[in-house]
Amino acid sequence: MARNASQFVCSECGAVHKKWSGRCDACGAWNTISEEVALSSGPAGRGLGRKRGKGIELSALSATETPLPRAQSGIGEFDRVLGGGLVPGSAILVGGDPGIGKSTLLLQAAAAFAGQGVSAIYVSGEEAAAQVRMRAQRLGLGEAPVRLAAETGLRDILTTLDRERPGLVVIDSIQTMWLDNVESAPGSVAQVRAAAHELVGFAKRRGVSVVLVGHVTKEGQIAGPRVIEHMVDTVLYFEGERGHQFRILRSVKNRFGPADEIGVFEMTGAGLGEVVNPSALFLAEREQPASGSVVFAGIEGTRPVLVEIQALVAPSSLATPRRAVVGWDGGRLAMILAVLEARCGMGFSGHEVYLNIAGGLRISEPAADLAVAAAILSARHDIALPTETVVFGEISLSGALRPVTQADARIKEARKLGFSRIIAPSQVKMTADSGMCIERFGDLTGFVTTLFAPVG
Ligand code: TYD
Ligand code: MG
Repeated sequence: MARNASQFVCSECGAVHKKWSGRCDACGAWNTISEEVALSSGPAGRGLGRKRGKGIELSALSATETPLPRAQSGIGEFDRVLGGGLVPGSAILVGGDPGIGKSTLLLQAAAAFAGQGVSAIYVSGEEAAAQVRMRAQRLGLGEAPVRLAAETGLRDILTTLDRERPGLVVIDSIQTMWLDNVESAPGSVAQVRAAAHELVGFAKRRGVSVVLVGHVTKEGQIAGPRVIEHMVDTVLYFEGERGHQFRILRSVKNRFGPADEIGVFEMTGAGLGEVVNPSALFLAEREQPASGSVVFAGIEGTRPVLVEIQALVAPSSLATPRRAVVGWDGGRLAMILAVLEARCGMGFSGHEVYLNIAGGLRISEPAADLAVAAAILSARHDIALPTETVVFGEISLSGALRPVTQADARIKEARKLGFSRIIAPSQVKMTADSGMCIERFGDLTGFVTTLFAPVG
């Protein structure tokens, strides 16, 4: 038998290198390359040889499929993120920072599914069974019919699962699982990839839904989850700011539903509670009109969400004043500051600019541009927008305001929450009966002179 050769794999992008180096040539990441043993079998590197395969059957694209059978947990926010429930035989990766609440969420979900008659098994590789039991009791789930194992050896786990044939298995976490025929340490890229491969194969073969928990830090560190994203059907990220009670479960990939859907949860002493109306919660702390605070009508997944954008602009004597962003893209902030300077003559070179999305939400929509610009200008000039105002619109580099998707849904949500004034790009249409006052602007200059002219 040929000696197993070593190869060096980047945990960030999965690129394979012949030699170790500090920086991956493929993606430019530092300190992400580690050694692993190349499997001596498998198609990689060997080609197919002469042996012929058997013919596979081809079918028409037009063949009708019955809708996917889905199991519902009854936790509405969780089911929504899955695309309407759990599809049998699907493999789901739930990633997130250590300590963010993944184990809690999945124990609650497993108990909820078990309560709906799905036979559920929770395998913990990180905590002892007694610890998991204690958590379950704290969550008020002590009596839930979830079966428990504290085990890390995947061979034994798979044999057991084969015998039990459950409907749902939670593996917490994939980094702790190891296969005895892979020579790397548990948690290494090779182990994580091989373990995920086995578990996903098991899910497909037996029609069992498998949830893999994976720790990822913001920088994508800790070997693993990134390299298995393409193996699974659904990738969910559980995110939130430490010190905030909100947690957001976001689907970044879903073969069985829309991506970018979010479920909002609130952390309590008794576990995660659903937040059915996130807008009301994200805006809960607003009372008086305050400069630098603007409400943005956003869309998260299929649902409108109102969030407060806060800006602070402070004089600075530094040559390059600080810009700091929480919950939004720093590059996009730089772009908006540049457009304000180039198109409206509003320079920020003598000012520090801080931007924060309240409640720990992270938004990525360009539709937030105008609300961000409004918050910055409001902070700079110390002029508060009236509290009943919501803002949305995309800013282009020319300074023109561009229309956004689903304006109707945004306006409806704003109305539902008691807002009465909309600031939006000029293309946005209003239905006559909405009873809202709308101010439309074609470009940023018009917007700035109308709202912030007194001191402009
Ligand atoms: P845990 O679920 O263990 O996080 P992860 O599996 O992502 O590492 O949760 C971390 C800690 O937070 C744990 O000590 C329990 C606590 N916690 C609560 O008290 N209430 C909650 O609603 C959640 C989600 C966590
Ligand atoms: Mg955990």
